[in-house]
Amino acid sequence: MGAEEQIKAAEAKFGDLIRSELARIETMKSDSTIKDFSKLEHIKIGILPGDGIGPIIMEQALRVVNELLKDEIASGKVQVHIIEGMTIERRSELNESLPADVMEECKKCDVLVKGPFVTPRPGDPWPNLLSANSLLRRGLNLFAAVRPIKMPDRNIDWTFFRENIEGEYILGNKGIEVNEDLAIDFKVLTKPGAERIARAAFEFARKNGKKHVTVVTKANIVKLVDGNFVKTIHRVGEEEYPEIIVDDKLVDATAAKMLDPEFNKDMEVVVLPNLYGDIVTDVAAEHQGGLGTASSSNIGNQYALFEAIHGTAPYLMEHGRGHYANPCSLIRAMGEMMAHIGYADRKAILDKALDITTVTERKVVLTTETKDASTAEFTDYLIDTIKTLEK
Ligand code: IPM
Ligand code: MN
Repeated sequence: MGAEEQIKAAEAKFGDLIRSELARIETMKSDSTIKDFSKLEHIKIGILPGDGIGPIIMEQALRVVNELLKDEIASGKVQVHIIEGMTIERRSELNESLPADVMEECKKCDVLVKGPFVTPRPGDPWPNLLSANSLLRRGLNLFAAVRPIKMPDRNIDWTFFRENIEGEYILGNKGIEVNEDLAIDFKVLTKPGAERIARAAFEFARKNGKKHVTVVTKANIVKLVDGNFVKTIHRVGEEEYPEIIVDDKLVDATAAKMLDPEFNKDMEVVVLPNLYGDIVTDVAAEHQGGLGTASSSNIGNQYALFEAIHGTAPYLMEHGRGHYANPCSLIRAMGEMMAHIGYADRKAILDKALDITTVTERKVVLTTETKDASTAEFTDYLIDTIKTLEK
């Protein structure tokens, strides 16, 4: 192909991308009613155990939920439904990262809790499947990733609101390879996409008595997408949440200096575009004590999905230590799920029990070493602690 033909082919692809994004904007505009869990007769929780250590930690996390929601489960008010067929082996066989039957089952639930999925990288023994996480977020319109980080000894209590669908992710596998010398990827921001993450962050700030919302971007360089993100946060704040102060920070400085008390003194609620949110929340989780200590909520108007933010731990599995994995991140995700469907009191009990078992008392200690407690032994201890708090 000559240069002119390559340009024409690229233009045609670009046109298709714009068309699909314009269509997506229309569907976004029609998705504005928010599911009210207090009005549901039954609440169906879908469980996706995941790959690697996923099924092991999920089995234990479910024991915790069965204890905390035992009356609601016994009466049928809350139903727990295990969704099968979402293993990397089956997905590879079908060559689909999110099989259609799995997606259908997910849509029949009100909320989902998932373990980690394998996302194949080049060189892995699996076909190069898309990220199932991204497809679930997109398919269920889970536009806000809410990631809390607490470091009480540093006086840190942050809640990150990461935009979860757009940015570099939405067209992540739709870049244009013009020729072997030139590849172009896209970063996308839509007005409804920016407004809904802005409102989610401000609503949270208002409900929780927070005075500051910090917007983190690279708007000095990425003029349009990051620039519009910042403008939207300021505009929605001024028009709808005038009592809240909006602060601007750059993503590089935030990653480097987040622990500096001078730098972070007004940080409470932090709102960021997708990829910066991905990176900054990993850095923050690492400071908090590791990825195994954090959880993530993916929230939309109709559905919500709760997950651990760590991966499938292939190292532990290969070394026969899967049954010694730390389930706390996934158990915390269960806590977030319970609060989301209206049982904040159960989350409070769980938080207290996790504090006792992992910080103040620590009678049974998990290190992932086989000489220390197993996943099940730690969970026995946690459930005993929950039972004494329930009395
Ligand atoms: C996360 C993960 C995902 C992401 C991956 C698994 C697609 O890193 O939830 O932060 O990049 O969003
Ligand atoms: Mn991540």
